[in-house]
Amino acid sequence: MNHPTQAYRAAILHSLDDPNVVGVEQSYEYFADGVLLVEAGRVVKVGAAAELLPSLGDVPLVEFPNALITPGFIDTHIHYPQTGMIASYGEQLLDWLNTYTFPTERQFADPQHAQAVAEFFIKELLRNGTTTALVFASVHKQSVDAFFAEAAKWDLRMIAGKVLMDRNAPDYLTDTPESGYTQSKELIERWHGKGRLHYAVTPRFAPTSSPEQLRLAGQLFNEYNDLYMHTHLSENRDEIAWVKSLFPERKGYLDVYDHYQLIGQRAVFAHAVHLSDEECQRLAETGSAVAFCPTSNLFLGSGLFDLHKMEQQGVRVGLGTDVGAGTSFNQLQSLNEAYKVMQLQGQKLDPFKSLYLATLGGAKALYLDDKIGNFTRGKEADFVVLDYHATPLLKYRLQQASSLAEKLFALIMLGDDRVIQQTFAAGRLVHQRD
Ligand code: GUN
Ligand code: ZN
Repeated sequence: MNHPTQAYRAAILHSLDDPNVVGVEQSYEYFADGVLLVEAGRVVKVGAAAELLPSLGDVPLVEFPNALITPGFIDTHIHYPQTGMIASYGEQLLDWLNTYTFPTERQFADPQHAQAVAEFFIKELLRNGTTTALVFASVHKQSVDAFFAEAAKWDLRMIAGKVLMDRNAPDYLTDTPESGYTQSKELIERWHGKGRLHYAVTPRFAPTSSPEQLRLAGQLFNEYNDLYMHTHLSENRDEIAWVKSLFPERKGYLDVYDHYQLIGQRAVFAHAVHLSDEECQRLAETGSAVAFCPTSNLFLGSGLFDLHKMEQQGVRVGLGTDVGAGTSFNQLQSLNEAYKVMQLQGQKLDPFKSLYLATLGGAKALYLDDKIGNFTRGKEADFVVLDYHATPLLKYRLQQASSLAEKLFALIMLGDDRVIQQTFAAGRLVHQRD
């Protein structure tokens, strides 16, 4: 692959650490007129244009006069087979699954359908500036092959897995403990660690897996030391009551996963809206992560995620769209709704914390912060160019802004796919807005 040295000039902003840990001012680095130098798909340097331009020599320079460069967005929970059913009316979680989700996922038995949707889905991620995602496929192994084949074409850092479900779902969508284990293992051998791809053992959620399937899933997760585990947890009150009735011997919902060794570093639990203090502590002490999915939690009426509580307890938190229950692929839109979710609980979401959640915080939740999430030297050059003039209103509002914080907040509240001017993955242009 051809990886020339290239320099990009624009305003540049990236997170250095969690604002809640180091304070807002220490949490980011900003260059009003900056240069990002990329070589062989990696960040060589970021700095002020005045300092870096004189030393560039004949390195080609691309200039974006009215734009902000940030790291690519990281989506820590999304379902690619649900792309075609985003915005389906009227139900909460369990009825929504039965009415819309299961019939939609059935179509992924057909590899051609899976390939077509995977292609559309990845284009949509890139159109929205998302360069890394933790992705549910369907129960069909061919759905995972289709997804990884498409992600590999673009050289994206992506994580995905075959859904495990052997009960409480239509026959057409179930596997068995053995077939789920064997097929997952085949997929791991085929894709995990190939290029920038990673595999996630993916039990859908406790109600759709038998104890035997959960046991084998835990065994598989622990057979390798760098696999992911991806599932749902405590999203909806009826779901939680159902888990209690299915696993009466367990202390609570998280304890079901814990019992089957589906917890720990690189285990990611989507939603986690209704957790006890004890469950939060357990997530923190095991190094597990949760995905905050604001647009989905609002859309399905699931509840308000308590970010402050998670932080006080030291739980790793990433930001997820959860499409197709989420209503946008765009992480600026997720952050817009996250801000309101926190307002409803008397909490504030600082714009630099928002930037962190969508980039470096997501990388930390996924244990990928040695590779992606900001512009530290040597990291993979996944970044987005955000157009300050994308819409008349955004341009006008930003003209009134007197600080970077104000600008960033307005960009988050007013921004969507229209602001994503270009997206780069491993230093390559992978999306150019029309
Ligand atoms: N719980 C189990 N499956 C799903 C799903 O597909 N979407 C959401 N939001 N929650 C789930
Ligand atoms: Zn989900």
